[in-house]
Amino acid sequence: MVGGIYGGSSAPDMPPRAPIPTPGNDVPLGTEDAMTLQFPVPEREPEPSRVSVQTVSGDLGPTGRPMPVLPDPKPVVQHGNARVISMCNQKGGVGKTTTTINLGAALAEFGRKVLLVDFDPQGSLSVGLGLNPHEMELTVYNLLMDPETRLDEVVVPSGVPGMDLLPSNIDLSAAEVQLVHEVAREQTLQRVLAPAIAEYDVILIDCQPSLGLLTVNALTASHGVIVPLECEYFALRGVALLKATIDKVKQRLNPNLEVDGVLGTMYDGRTLHGREVLERLVQAWGDQVFHTVIRRTVKFSDSTVAGEPITSYASGSSGAEAYRQLAKEVALRCPDV
Ligand SMILES: Nc1ncnc2c1ncn2[C@@H]1O[C@H](COP(=O)(O)OP(=O)(O)O)[C@@H](O)[C@H]1O
Ligand SMILES: [Mg+2]
Repeated sequence: MVGGIYGGSSAPDMPPRAPIPTPGNDVPLGTEDAMTLQFPVPEREPEPSRVSVQTVSGDLGPTGRPMPVLPDPKPVVQHGNARVISMCNQKGGVGKTTTTINLGAALAEFGRKVLLVDFDPQGSLSVGLGLNPHEMELTVYNLLMDPETRLDEVVVPSGVPGMDLLPSNIDLSAAEVQLVHEVAREQTLQRVLAPAIAEYDVILIDCQPSLGLLTVNALTASHGVIVPLECEYFALRGVALLKATIDKVKQRLNPNLEVDGVLGTMYDGRTLHGREVLERLVQAWGDQVFHTVIRRTVKFSDSTVAGEPITSYASGSSGAEAYRQLAKEVALRCPDV
């Protein structure tokens, strides 16, 4: 355990069906271990949308709210001034990597210049885009640990026009240990990404499944966070700890950090269970929950094996369409995308 902000890779058990607690500003700061915090605050008021949206009358989306009209994002006149967004959830297998690849590819289809950052030592994002982890000469690890390494030496094309990748492999796991001794250890990734801001429109960081120093680095380097949550009952466990970590990074390291959205993934609309989980997500996170939900389909694992995004592997599939819709919703919520 490294310090007050950092949690582990597993979350404390929450009692079944309890309302999702929300940390307030009264969270004690400094010496506590995030893992041990208890937040008694019950359900939160839904937050108002950051943008007012036009809705299609009477047309309810899968989240039970009226589905907004999602226009195509406006064409980008000049690239640069990137919005940095982390995909964050300390649970594994919730769709962080899948969302990073496919949201990135969909935004690239809409003319955005996109950089994906593989910030998980498992390197799934790099592998999912067809890279061999053993053949990488330079990775994000080199950028973090060696100030002489330049960003453009490490960036590789992703195979998708308009989308590049900063790859990773298992080397990155050493960075977590080595960074502890660095000055301004939480700002290391922010420093590394600084030269990319002027070049790209969107930078998406695929976080590892933990709330340790790498994830805190990602949150410190970000303007926004997207929280993918599998539409399964136990998905809601650990959400309070994630929220507490985001809030603490906001308080101590990055006051501009915003939750850009909570994304329901692997949704099965045929089951009452799936619909109930979405309902509870909306109760807990209000309008932060994206109207777009990603349904469960084997096409996602197929496209990972093929080493490409679903938007090109199965361009006309419902999964590809869902991520295009998410790209529109992200662009609507975040005008800087
Ligand atoms: N909507 C979906 N439907 C079905 N399988 C999915 C979906 N999204 C992701 N998967 C699969 O679930 C597994 C975990 O997804 P992944 O994106 O790697 O999660 P994480 O990065 O959070 O660990 C992968 O095998 C992926 O192909
Ligand atoms: Mg992953």
